[in-house]
Amino acid sequence: MCGIVGAVARDNVVPVLLEGLLRLEYRGYDSAGLVVSNNSLHRLRTTGRVAELIKLVGEQNAEGLAGIAHTRWATHGAPSERNAHPHISGTESQIAVVHNGIIENHESMRERLQTDGYVFVSDTDTEVIAHLVDYHLKQTQDLFKAVCLSIAELQGAYAIGVMEEIRPDRIIVARNGAPLLLGLGEDGNYAASDASALLKVTRNMIYLEEGDVAELVRDQYRIVNCLNNQLGEPVERVVHKSDLSNEAIEMGPYDHFMQKEVFEQPGAVANTLEMVFNAQSISPNLFGAQAESVLSDTDSILILACGTSYHAGLVAQYWLETVAGMPCSVQIASEYRYRDPIANPKTLVVGISQSGETADTLAAVSYAKELGHQYSLAVCNVAESALVRQTTLRFLTRAGPEIGVASTKAFTTQLASLLLLTVTLAKMRNKLSAEREQQMIRALRHLPAALQSSLQVEPEVEVWARRFSEKHHALFLGRGVHYPIAMEGALKLKEISYIHAEAYAAGELKHGPLALVDSEMPIVAIAPNDQLLGKLKSNLQEVHARGGELYVFADADSQIEESENLHVIRLAEHAGLLSPILHTIPLQLLAYHVALKKGTDVDKPRNLAKAVTVE
Ligand code: M6R
Repeated sequence: MCGIVGAVARDNVVPVLLEGLLRLEYRGYDSAGLVVSNNSLHRLRTTGRVAELIKLVGEQNAEGLAGIAHTRWATHGAPSERNAHPHISGTESQIAVVHNGIIENHESMRERLQTDGYVFVSDTDTEVIAHLVDYHLKQTQDLFKAVCLSIAELQGAYAIGVMEEIRPDRIIVARNGAPLLLGLGEDGNYAASDASALLKVTRNMIYLEEGDVAELVRDQYRIVNCLNNQLGEPVERVVHKSDLSNEAIEMGPYDHFMQKEVFEQPGAVANTLEMVFNAQSISPNLFGAQAESVLSDTDSILILACGTSYHAGLVAQYWLETVAGMPCSVQIASEYRYRDPIANPKTLVVGISQSGETADTLAAVSYAKELGHQYSLAVCNVAESALVRQTTLRFLTRAGPEIGVASTKAFTTQLASLLLLTVTLAKMRNKLSAEREQQMIRALRHLPAALQSSLQVEPEVEVWARRFSEKHHALFLGRGVHYPIAMEGALKLKEISYIHAEAYAAGELKHGPLALVDSEMPIVAIAPNDQLLGKLKSNLQEVHARGGELYVFADADSQIEESENLHVIRLAEHAGLLSPILHTIPLQLLAYHVALKKGTDVDKPRNLAKAVTVE
C-alpha cells in the first residue's frame, strides 16, 4: 500500500526521500511523487517506478531542506500522474499533502469544498485533505492547527504528511489508523510508514499513536494527540532504538527478496522457536504475562486473518482440534467483520498477521471485542504494529522483515507459532503426556534442519516449473491438514505467476472440479504419508484415469511411483504434525520458478500491495 517519507534536515533532503521510497517499494505502488520546498513548492510525479522519479529529480535538479514523498497504490482514481501524490491546494500560498489510507467521507467533503470554491483536479480522496487543510489554514493562519482541525473532520483510516510553501523548514504529519513513525536524527527529523525507510539516517524512532499530529523541524519536534481535543493535547511518546539491520532489508546475494525469504526459513523458524529450544518444557508465558490465566479460562478459539495468514489459521484449526481437543473456528477477517456472529466471552480471538496492519484483520479483532469476546492474541511479525498493540496476548514470529509481496517465511513462522500455541493448550488441558511434550520439543528443535532438507528439492522443482510456465490454469489438491497447504500453494502460484490456480480438498474433486481435468490441466498434489494417504491415492487415480497430468509432492515413504503423466518429487522425511510446514517449501519454490520463467515481477506482482492497510 502507499508509502510515506518526510524529512526536514540540515542538507538537501531529496536523497533521503528517494532512498526511503526505494525501501518502501515492497509495500506495492503504481505511481510515485515528491515535493520539496525551497521558497516555492517543487513537485515531481510519475506513474513509473521510483527509479523514474529519481531520473526526473536529476533532470529538474529538485532540492530542498524539507520535503514529503509518496508511493501510491491506487484506490480512488486510476494510477495516473494526475492522481499521484503529493496533492496541492492553496489560495494564498500553496500547501502539499501525501496520504496513505482511505477517507471514507470524501464525497460529502468534496461537495462542501466545491461549494466553498475549491476546484478538484484529481479523482482522489487525498485532494479533499489538501483543500480542507487549506480551508482551515485560511481561518487559523497556522498549518499545525489547520491539520488538527482537518483530521477532526475526516473519517477513515489514514496517515498524512503536509508541508507549506511559506514555511519551507517544517513538515506536519498525522496518524489515524494507518502506520506512521518519526525518526529523530542528528542532522534532521524524519517521518515514514515504516522503520526500514529511515535506517540510513537514524535508528531512533517514535511510533505515533492513533490521533497523533506531529510537527517536525530540523532540530525539534512536538506531538499532540487530537482524539479528545480538536486542537490536540501535548503528549510524550517513547523513543525506540530500532534493531533492524540493513542486511535484513537488503537482497544480498539473492536475485529477489522472495528467493531470499524462502531460503531464510530455517533461520526464521529457529529464531521464532528460540525460547523453546532453550527450555526443557513448554510454558504459557511464551504468549505474554497474562497468558496463564487467560489460556486457562479459554474454552475455544476464533481465528481471524486474511490471505496467507488465513491459511495458517486453517492449518492451526486441525492441530487445535486434534492435539488440544479445542473447538476452533477460522474466519476470513473481511467477512467476519460484517456478520452477526454469536460471541462467547471464553473464546480466545487469535488475529494472525505478518504486518499487523491489515485493515480487515484489525477491524475484525476490534469487532470481536465489541461483540463481547474478552481475550485476544496477536500472532504477528511486527512488534510495534497496531495488531500487537490491541490484543491481550501476543506471540511475535521472528521472521525478520518480509519484503516480497508473496508471504513465505511469515507463513512458516506463523505455523510454528500456532503449533506452539496448540501444544501449550494441550498441556494445560491435560491432553499431552510429559513424554509427548518432550517428543514435540525434539521435533520443533529438528524443524530448521528438516526445512533445510525440504529446500534441497529446488533443482527438481525447477524442471517442473518449465512445464507450468506454459499453462494457464492449475489445480492443487490436499487432504486434511494439507488442504490449507494446497490453498497456500495455489495462492502463491496465482499471485506471482498470474496463472489461474485453485485448491480443492482432494475428496471434493468428483463433486465438480473433475470436469476441468484434461491433459492441459496440471494437477499438483500434496501426498504426505499420513492416515489419509490411501484416500488421497484413490483421488489421484480418478484424475489419472481422465488423462490429467499429476505433479505429486510425496514423503520419501509415500509409495507413489512415477508413471506416464504422474511425476513425483519426494521430501526427505515425514515430519508427522510438522508435515504441513515442510510441504509448504516446494510449493513456494514452484511458484517462484514458474514466475521466473514467465518473467513476471516476483517481488512486486501487479496490482498487489504488501501491507493491505485499506478495506
Ligand atoms: O500482513 P498480513 O499477514 O495480515 O497480510 C494478509 C494478506 O494480505 C497476505 O497474506 C497476502 O495474502 C499475501 N500477499 C499472500 O502472499
